[in-house]
Amino acid sequence: MNKPRVYLTRKIPGEVLSYLAEHCSCEMWPEEDIPVPRPVLLEKVRLVRGLYTMLTDRIDGEVFQAAPELRVVANMAVGYDNIDLAAARGVMVTNTPDVLTESTADLTFALILMTARRVLEAHNALLTGGWRTWSPMFMAGVDVHHRCLGIVGLGRIGRAVARRARGFDMEVLYFSRTRHPEWEQELGATYCSLPELLARADFVTLHTNLTAQTRHLIGEGELALMKQEAILINTSRGGVVDQEALYRALVSGRLRGAGLDVFEREPVSPDHPLLQLSNVVALPHIGSATVATRTAMAQLAAENLVAALEGRRPPNVVGG
Ligand code: DGY
Repeated sequence: MNKPRVYLTRKIPGEVLSYLAEHCSCEMWPEEDIPVPRPVLLEKVRLVRGLYTMLTDRIDGEVFQAAPELRVVANMAVGYDNIDLAAARGVMVTNTPDVLTESTADLTFALILMTARRVLEAHNALLTGGWRTWSPMFMAGVDVHHRCLGIVGLGRIGRAVARRARGFDMEVLYFSRTRHPEWEQELGATYCSLPELLARADFVTLHTNLTAQTRHLIGEGELALMKQEAILINTSRGGVVDQEALYRALVSGRLRGAGLDVFEREPVSPDHPLLQLSNVVALPHIGSATVATRTAMAQLAAENLVAALEGRRPPNVVGG
């Protein structure tokens, strides 16, 4: 029997490709660092039954229309805002939850610590000869322990961040669309409205999906509610924050700092004004970037794809 044809939009780990090749006839965009060009994607999807995608691929009506045989799109990411589910019309869409939760929570905490304790600034000061002697207030930041953490979105990653916060004896507040009394005791987290969370938290960390409802969830008005000493952390999606409003808040001293792993447009230009600020720690969307986690994500996406093509229900269906 002929194996179903599959197109992969990026080079993936060899062992995962071997697993896929046992079940499918695979063609792969060979580059690791360059996304598949749009014309190539539109050409390749014409004959495939499965599409293995990255969060950088825009999978919209044009792609679905160009792919009459397509049965499944397996996204190698938990977020799937790059895929227009409404345009999928019967094509199954899958994502990769769970496997990246702990790594992303670790990186969120890295950003909390880096911004609060001025880790990058201190490192750069040392490299540029700014460390002349030990002195009482040199590179003095703010404490993380015993401060108040506000978590926006209490999904898997939000909860993993809350568990880490307990180790730092932090007070944990959370806001999410629906209240989760079942987690509150275990996490020691208190539910409150978004305005209350913004007004009370020393660190606000964002863990929501990007949807029409959450786009610019944190804008001018929300930033104005935050404490002047507060720090904003974003490891979710750049579009959840109005970046221009954030820039103004940081420059004017309305906010102490920001730790950002994600941007409204990625890759963000190195010249972007936000990146010129000493109170911003910026990372290139590496929340889940450990070898083990990225390999697990790649494998889970492959298993979702194979299950769908074999007529089984994949474990992680988000649409179609
Ligand atoms: C995801 O899976 O959506 C993450 O942003 C990738 O790290």
